Amino acid sequence: MADRDNTKTPRVAKAGEEGRIAIVSASADETEAIAARLGCAAAAGDVIGLVGELGAGKTAFVRGLAAGLGVAPGDVASPTFTMVAEYRGRLPLFHIDLYRLTPGEADIGALREYAAATGVTAVEWFDRLAPGTLDACLRVRIDYAEPGRRLTFEGAGERATRLLAAVPAASR
Ligand SMILES: Nc1ncnc2c1ncn2[C@@H]1O[C@H](COP(=O)(O)OP(=O)(O)OP(=O)(O)O)[C@@H](O)[C@H]1O
Ligand SMILES: [Mg+2]
Repeated sequence: MADRDNTKTPRVAKAGEEGRIAIVSASADETEAIAARLGCAAAAGDVIGLVGELGAGKTAFVRGLAAGLGVAPGDVASPTFTMVAEYRGRLPLFHIDLYRLTPGEADIGALREYAAATGVTAVEWFDRLAPGTLDACLRVRIDYAEPGRRLTFEGAGERATRLLAAVPAASR
């Protein structure tokens, strides 16, 4: 297989290297489809940190992740009032929304438990956590950009490399 051919320069980032991909998504459906690819590639213990202003499309992204993990359509709602929702798929998906977080009041122990658990954790408003609180293997920033949104994926290490490789090439 070409990927195992050591005589060629590897096309994927090595563990520890920072990888970054920016793509444009024209619609919520496209965002969901891109996120679904990541959901298919997700592994237990992956943490995805979502950043973007109100209405950017963070929940739409989580809906796609859930679909990729085999969660029944329609299960995903914004967990703003509960802060954490859990959905059943191929792996459990923990959907955390920190919008209402009072800075400094995050239950860090609980957050770390979710992240270390047997599922995939997606965190909306990840930037409300103080740096170093919780390591996301992949950060997804969603910005308004014509004709829809720009999604910027960034992460380092093997988990990020696996997820970055799942970003549809046609969208890059
Ligand atoms: N390219 C796009 N990707 C995602 N959402 C889009 C896109 N274009 C338009 N939208 C619309 O933007 C809105 C995104 O809503 P969503 O609830 O996912 O945002 P959010 O970032 O989770 O908001 P909040 O900060 O309130 O949690 C939806 O109404 C969706 O249809
Ligand atoms: Mg949301």
